[in-house]
Amino acid sequence: MDRLYFTSTKYKLIELILKSRETRLALGSAGNEFHEDLFCEKPKWQCVVATTASDPDTVIGYSVYYPFHSAWKGMSLYMDDLYVDAKHRGKGVGKLLWQKVTQMGLDMGCKGLRLTVKEWNKTARDMYFHHGCVDLTDSCDEHIMHLSKEGMEKFVQDV
Ligand SMILES: CC(C)(COP(=O)(O)OP(=O)(O)OC[C@H]1O[C@@H](n2cnc3c(N)ncnc32)[C@H](O)[C@@H]1OP(=O)(O)O)[C@@H](O)C(=O)NCCC(=O)NCCS
Repeated sequence: MDRLYFTSTKYKLIELILKSRETRLALGSAGNEFHEDLFCEKPKWQCVVATTASDPDTVIGYSVYYPFHSAWKGMSLYMDDLYVDAKHRGKGVGKLLWQKVTQMGLDMGCKGLRLTVKEWNKTARDMYFHHGCVDLTDSCDEHIMHLSKEGMEKFVQDV
């Protein structure tokens, strides 16, 4: 692993991510919240980034993750995002980032790793299958339910 290393120095990390145009675009409108939620007193999520040894100031990939709990199944890790700069894809960077996140989950005592992937994203889906992921979409007998912020606000008013 001499080509890559992971940095956990938090201020350096966010600076690196925001400096990189492509990764900043990948974060989209969540960029500001990402910053606030990562560096508050009780961070809501964690992040690993990959840089090359020859250019440690440029982020070439990152992954964002956080533990979540189920009363029935215990703690699992949710990998919210895995991203590698287009120029650096196909060289093992995404796998290293994913492995690092997976190891953190094991170290935390997680009982599984959860992620979602878009229907159109065949490359990522194939990668996840290739390394042992199981698609629960059709078999888990559950539906993913979401309440928008407006929906939340409306619901709590419904007394
Ligand atoms: C998905 C993504 C992170 C992969 O990163 P990458 O650095 O190109 O991937 P790697 O080179 O590390 O390859 C990872 C592994 O997946 C495998 N893989 C890659 N593409 C594959 C495919 N089409 N089918 C099967 N396996 C595939 C590789 O073989 C490798 O495993 P191996 O080395 O054990 O053989 C990258 O393409 C990306 O950032 N895409 C845009 C963002 C995205 O879609 N993220 C996922 C959101 S859920």
